Amino acid sequence: MTIIKQGEATMGLLDGKVALITGAGGGLGEAYAKLFAREGASVVVNDLGGPRDGSGADKSMAQLVVDAIKAEGGKAVANGADISTMEGGQSVFDDAIKHFGRADILVNNAGILRDQTFAKASEADWDKVIKVHLKGTFCCTMPVFRWMRENGGGVIVNTSSTSGLIGNFGQTNYGAAKGGIWGLSNVLAIEGRKYNIRIWTLAPGALTRMTADLPRYKENPSAALGPDGIAPAVLYMVSDLSGDQTGKVLGVSGPRGVREMRMMEMEGWKPPHSGWNAQDIVDHAKEIFFSEEQIKMGARRF
Ligand SMILES: NC(=O)c1ccc[n+]([C@@H]2O[C@H](COP(=O)([O-])OP(=O)(O)OC[C@H]3O[C@@H](n4cnc5c(N)ncnc54)[C@H](O)[C@@H]3O)[C@@H](O)[C@H]2O)c1
Repeated sequence: MTIIKQGEATMGLLDGKVALITGAGGGLGEAYAKLFAREGASVVVNDLGGPRDGSGADKSMAQLVVDAIKAEGGKAVANGADISTMEGGQSVFDDAIKHFGRADILVNNAGILRDQTFAKASEADWDKVIKVHLKGTFCCTMPVFRWMRENGGGVIVNTSSTSGLIGNFGQTNYGAAKGGIWGLSNVLAIEGRKYNIRIWTLAPGALTRMTADLPRYKENPSAALGPDGIAPAVLYMVSDLSGDQTGKVLGVSGPRGVREMRMMEMEGWKPPHSGWNAQDIVDHAKEIFFSEEQIKMGARRF
C-alpha cells in the first residue's frame, strides 16, 4: 500500500528505511525485497544461491533480484554471503552500512530443507539444517541488534514454521530449528523492548520451490498463496502500520489466512506445597489439560 497525498510526492510505507533480507534471491525473500523497495526501502538482497538442500552456490540469484529492483527505479545491493557463519551475517550488516548508512529492518528468511523421518535422519543433515536456520538467525541478528540498540531501534522478523510450532511428519531437524527460532524471538522481544527493537515471528505457508512437492499443494494448487500473497503481511510487520507490537507470531497461508498464533496455558490446578501425588493430576485433569473442544477453538491445524 502506498499513501498518496494530493499535491505531494508519492509516499511509501518504508521511505528512508534500510532493509536487510536473507535468502532473498528467490521465493518469499525475493517477494519481500521487491515489495519493500517499491515502498521506498533501500534493500540488501542476500542469497548464497543454489538448490533447496543448501548444497552449492549461485550468487547470481541475489544480483538478478537487485537488477529487477533497480529496473523499477528502486535501490538495492546484492550480498552473496553464507548467513550461517558469523562472517556472513556481519557482511550483510556491513553492506547495509556501507551502501545505505543504516539498518532499520532485518528479515531472517534464508532456509534449506533436508527432510527425513527421525529413524533415517543423519547427523550431517541435522547439523546443516540447524546451522542455516537457527545459527543463521543468530549470526545475522547479532550485528543488527547491536546497531539498533545504539540507534533508536528497528524491526526484526524471524522466520519460523508450523513445522516447529505445531509439528510436521518427517521434519525433526527443520522443526527443531524453526521451534528454536521461535524461542530465540520470544527472548529477543523481551530484551529488545527497552531499545525500541520490535521482534516478529512469521510462520508462512506458500507455494515455493521449498513446498512444491507437498501433497496438499499438488492436490490443490489453487488453495496455495504464492510469495506475493505472503509479502503484504511482512510489510505490515516491519512498517509503522503494526505500531508498537512485538513478540508476536503471525501465521500467513492460503488455507488458514492471516492469524496470530500463541502458546496457550491453562488456568491450572494449584497443588498444596507438599503432600500431593501423581494421582492428583489424574483427579484434576480438567483443570490441567486442554479439552478437545478448547483445542478445536484455539489450536486448529491446517
Ligand atoms: N514456503 C513455505 O510454505 C514455507 C513454510 C514455512 C517456512 N518457510 C520458510 O520461509 C523461508 C523462505 O523459504 P522459501 O519457501 O521462499 O524457500 P526458497 O528455497 O525459495 O528460499 C530460501 C532461500 O534461502 C537461500 N539460502 C539458503 N541457505 C542460505 C545461506 N546459508 N545463506 C544465504 N542464503 C541461503 C536459498 O538460496 C533460497 O534462495 C525459509 O526460512 C523457509 O524455511 C517457508
